[in-house]
Amino acid sequence: MQRYNKKLIYANLFAKFKKSSYLFAYVNFFSYLCSVFDHTTMTKLSVNINKVATLRNARGGNLPDVQRFAVDCELFGAQGITVHPRPDERHIRKEDVYQLKSMVTTELNVEGNPTEEFLALVTDVRPTQVTLVPDDPGQLTSNHGWDTRRNLDFLKGVVNQLHAYRIRVSIFVDPDPVMVEYALRTGADRVELYTGPYAELFRIDPKRAIEKYRPAAMKAHELGLGMNAGHDLNLKNLKPFIQAFPWTAEVSIGHAIVCDALYLGIQETIQEYLECLKK
Ligand code: PXP
Repeated sequence: MQRYNKKLIYANLFAKFKKSSYLFAYVNFFSYLCSVFDHTTMTKLSVNINKVATLRNARGGNLPDVQRFAVDCELFGAQGITVHPRPDERHIRKEDVYQLKSMVTTELNVEGNPTEEFLALVTDVRPTQVTLVPDDPGQLTSNHGWDTRRNLDFLKGVVNQLHAYRIRVSIFVDPDPVMVEYALRTGADRVELYTGPYAELFRIDPKRAIEKYRPAAMKAHELGLGMNAGHDLNLKNLKPFIQAFPWTAEVSIGHAIVCDALYLGIQETIQEYLECLKK
């Protein structure tokens, strides 16, 4: 049995009750109870479809059809769709986000740096979840998490703003228990652990890769903060991560899924990832 920091858990719940409607707080409370007491709840697979949009944009037409791909991923078993609209719209465009909102029937997760433009988009679209990522406009891909201690006040403001629209908020962090603890203080519902370094180390030393993430993952669990994970997860490194941290609520995976789909097809690929998530 884990030991939980009850004071922080109650403070977090109380803050949620104060800030949100009672219904929203009940939903959060219920999912919190599920995450603490039911590790058998399956980790959700959210397919990141940025790469599909990159392929479409390469030719200027609508092939592949990003919206259709998202709906098919759901049909094949994905429990969520993730997009990361960047300011230069080099893959997902604003228009895609609006269209996806009307077509996705599972959970739409929109990632991005909370600039004014991004916040205007997500508060208009109102996806299920927004993941706050501290990336620069031209960055190739996300490569670090927030310093949640240094940016505490800023993040608090953003989380409040998104909660007012009933949007669940996740904060992208490096695997550092201090960053997890400060993420809780922002009022966020979840953290997303940046798993890029996990994937890199896993290739050399799988055991050490897991141990490097244990303190942060345990901290999120003890605090009753939801935990997602993402970046460079694949068919080799996903299962060991989930077995070590079965309370992971969601993984968002893009690059490896698209690469695997070139050989296996997207239906078979999603089935294989779902297999990895079984506990
Ligand atoms: N999580 C975040 C915050 C990301 O920026 C990305 C990449 O867009 C992912 C997860 C997915 O990473 P990958 O494409 O390596 O699976």
